Amino acid sequence: MDRDNYITRAYVMDLYNNPHNHGKIDDYDFFLKGKNPLCGDRITIYIKINKDIIEDISFESEGCIISSVSSSILTDEVKGRSISEIKKNLKFSDIEDKLLIKLSSSREKCARLSFDTFLSILNDNNL
Ligand code: FES
Repeated sequence: MDRDNYITRAYVMDLYNNPHNHGKIDDYDFFLKGKNPLCGDRITIYIKINKDIIEDISFESEGCIISSVSSSILTDEVKGRSISEIKKNLKFSDIEDKLLIKLSSSREKCARLSFDTFLSILNDNNL
């Protein structure tokens, strides 16, 4: 294994074993359950909002390593940002770039699970 692959693998395994923002926020304002239709894996995202700011966000998942690690990355990425700015600027490639892994189309569905679920919370609730 070359050095870059080793570093990527160590980074991904660390996020998988020590996920960021994992669990349920006690006083969340919105939540949504998402499902990957290809495998049936699920995620729940909870968000707490203060005015236009994502004050807190967390997730619970029953999914693969890619979906779990992507959820940590997504929640780190949006926490503390304004919803209006997120809706204008957040792209899936922001998450994909930080994942450091080239994704096949089926693995992209895994990585998109938290991203799509998060955007659905915003859209479904006219945030
Ligand atoms: Fe189900 Fe990745 S295999 S979310």
